Amino acid sequence: MNKPLTVAIVGCGNRGREAYGRILSYRSSDEVKVVAAADIVPERLEMTAKTHNIPKEMCFASGEELLKQPKLADLMFICTQDKQHYAHAIAALEKGYHLVLEKPISPSLSECKKIAETANKYNRTVLVCHVLRYTPFYSKVKEILNSGVLGRIINATLEEGVGYFHQAHSFVRGNWRNTEESSPMILAKCCHDMDIMVWLFGKKAKKISSFGDLNYFKAENAPEGAALRCLDCPKAVKDACPYDAEKIYIEPPRGAKAGRFWPTRVVSDDTSVEAVTKALREGPYGRCVFHCDNDVVDSQVVNIQFEDGFMANFLMTAFTKKIGRKIRIKGTLGELTGHMEENKITVKLFGETKDNITTYDTSTQITAKSHPGHGGGDEGLVKCVLDYFVNDNISDKITTIDKSIESHFIALAAEESRLHGGEVVDMDEFESKF
Ligand SMILES: NC(=O)c1ccc[n+]([C@@H]2O[C@H](COP(=O)([O-])OP(=O)(O)OC[C@H]3O[C@@H](n4cnc5c(N)ncnc54)[C@H](O)[C@@H]3O)[C@@H](O)[C@H]2O)c1
Repeated sequence: MNKPLTVAIVGCGNRGREAYGRILSYRSSDEVKVVAAADIVPERLEMTAKTHNIPKEMCFASGEELLKQPKLADLMFICTQDKQHYAHAIAALEKGYHLVLEKPISPSLSECKKIAETANKYNRTVLVCHVLRYTPFYSKVKEILNSGVLGRIINATLEEGVGYFHQAHSFVRGNWRNTEESSPMILAKCCHDMDIMVWLFGKKAKKISSFGDLNYFKAENAPEGAALRCLDCPKAVKDACPYDAEKIYIEPPRGAKAGRFWPTRVVSDDTSVEAVTKALREGPYGRCVFHCDNDVVDSQVVNIQFEDGFMANFLMTAFTKKIGRKIRIKGTLGELTGHMEENKITVKLFGETKDNITTYDTSTQITAKSHPGHGGGDEGLVKCVLDYFVNDNISDKITTIDKSIESHFIALAAEESRLHGGEVVDMDEFESKF
């Protein structure tokens, strides 16, 4: 029997430990084994070591420490923060690792290209975590498009509802609130959507324009009497505020009392009510959403002219009750509408009869046993990664860096346009700068 694929995880946080680490732990140890890990937070490293039975000498206090060792595994998952990816990825490629690299590859297009070039130089594979491609939902959309039933595709409209609490958590109080520290919103959150467009429609983007702003989460919109921290806020103001940190992190349905799940576990590794309350009193997640050091947008629109006359537009908005992605595709013979989180797709072919309407439910492919993250995309990605490295089975979804980089060019061209009042960006000119 072949030896199992060996894996090192750098960055044992929400993605490295809770998403991919957990999913890898469900797989057979004949197929894959996590043999080394690194994180600067000892508790996270310990939890990872415990899950995978990693001996002490294979646990490291940082990615840098791990990368000083000889090559310890076949494959490395890099799940550190956006601006750390570049240094970790280059060092790992030089050491001889294949990579599963969290998105964004890097907020700098020059760095993205350098990682791709280094991978080529050392003949290594870099798979980027564009998890949407691996969901049953988008796989079905792709299958329908490939079947040709919709005719020639003329337009598509995509919407990403970030969810009011998710925006407050990640993009106002949390890790991706500030462009300089992490990435612009359109890259950090929406490179997935740009990647899905590239993959589904298989066309090259030619021109882009975009508008967007931070409309709401700033001091001028703070309710009268609001305190700087939610735990200090007057009851009447707090009661009327859906962004109140206690509502998001402590009260059900998603708070500490409800268990150990995201986003509460990001606030505190110990998700008891006492520990979370302490974190809200002292840490970044207890801050009033109108008094943070955030600058990323809370809504943005992007218009894209692709080759062959195909046009798409995209809306990212913070202001939805639930997290959800919607897609509408218009072809010459029919139209498709879909909602990823509801796992529902409807295809209406043009003509008068009722029989021309077909609905698909992709939720049946996400079983109780599976990991539900990103509509089954996290688990789908791990499955395709293992198929790729263990079984030499290369799925058409596979997000190698050369394919994934296109989404970063589109996202950062949109940001360029937004910062210049919606000016049209010519993609050939834009790409030639890097
Ligand atoms: N694919 C997706 O859908 C998706 C979703 C969310 C986040 N992400 C991306 O995944 C990455 C990680 O996000 P996260 O939510 O897991 O963040 P996180 O903060 O929970 O995890 C990052 C971990 O890296 C550790 N770390 C920091 N410096 C380190 C170092 N020098 N060496 C080793 N470890 C170090 C931190 O202590 C932390 O545990 C980000 O780039 C983010 O944009 C991707």
